[in-house]
Amino acid sequence: SMEQYLQYHGLLLPPQAHSLESLRYAEKFPVEDSDVFAVTYPNSAMSSEDLYLRHHGLLLPRETHCAQSLRFAQEFKFRDDDVMVATYPKSGTTWMQEILPLVLNGADLTPIHTVPNWDRVPWLEEKRLALVVDQLTSPRGMVTHLPFHLMPPSFHASKAKVIYVMRNPKDVAVSSYHFHKMAQFLETPATFDEFLERFLQGKVMFGKWSDHVKSWRRSGLGGRILFITYEEMVQGWPVAVELCEDDRLLLYVNVPLFQDLGAAVGRVSEFLGCELSEEATQRIVEHCSFGTMKNNRMSNFSLVPKVYMDHDTSPFLRKGIVGDWKNHFGPEQLASFSSVIRKEMEGEMEGAALPWS
Ligand code: PPS
Repeated sequence: SMEQYLQYHGLLLPPQAHSLESLRYAEKFPVEDSDVFAVTYPNSAMSSEDLYLRHHGLLLPRETHCAQSLRFAQEFKFRDDDVMVATYPKSGTTWMQEILPLVLNGADLTPIHTVPNWDRVPWLEEKRLALVVDQLTSPRGMVTHLPFHLMPPSFHASKAKVIYVMRNPKDVAVSSYHFHKMAQFLETPATFDEFLERFLQGKVMFGKWSDHVKSWRRSGLGGRILFITYEEMVQGWPVAVELCEDDRLLLYVNVPLFQDLGAAVGRVSEFLGCELSEEATQRIVEHCSFGTMKNNRMSNFSLVPKVYMDHDTSPFLRKGIVGDWKNHFGPEQLASFSSVIRKEMEGEMEGAALPWS
């Protein structure tokens, strides 16, 4: 009914995405000459051009990125005690956004219960950073989906540390497919097959998975970077999953797997030099479990209005498991996906100690 809407110059606007404050903000928005507007009637199909901007050949969603935010990132002044979480999208970003502040503050749950994850550990390249950066206290935690070579000059000059979270690319592709269906600001895939094609060609946000992983693997950051896998944080894996030759190749890692979240938290805290009591570690494990995070409205993206993220289509915290690709890939898709990734990752396995070999 009419009362459910906000009235604005004779138009009805859905109140979950608009408020008098947001409209006042829009009216005063400092539009710059380089800005590009995609103007649509609601529910009209948007083209890839409308949805993404190009940044050094990568596609970035316009919803969260713009020329100014990328300039802000480029000019950002890093501090030596900053900690970056770097990921290819859908590899465990939100999970590490939960873990990192708890490790840094000795497991004080206040931030994860009071601040949405995008402000708690904001994205370097996204629009929000400029709005919240002054509220961050050192040691600051931030995330980025940027590949290593696009990190700003002051990052290289600093001693800021990086936690790079990797995930099996087949599960990344599956998670990303469902995310593209629920996120209204991304191009909706026609079919899983069509999406896999785009994923392998790097015609998705932040480009190719293999380029991203390789850029950070070859960064030469030495003791400044910790590589951690999504898989080693999942409790009980790989006991529940049979390993196949393919996973050995795709999940090249040089860290012990067969771990659990507590051990992963231990690796993060050791890397950052933050000593945690057993009780504090246990508290972090409890509050960063899939079930607890799924119910934490500061972490499950349910604060984002449905017009941007439709959780009925697929919740953001969807399954949180290892090996969901088995429920999506057909034999042909598996063969072609594996052969492309294998080729692109050739040589990257060298020197990696595989704990199960
Ligand atoms: S994004 O959009 O890049 O920030 O997405 P990202 O957070 O990197 O990835 C989302 C996937 O991570 C899963 N997730 C978790 N799995 C297990 N345990 C915990 N606590 C957890 N938190 C997030 C989330 O469910 C997405 O994976 P899928 O496979 O889609 O469930």
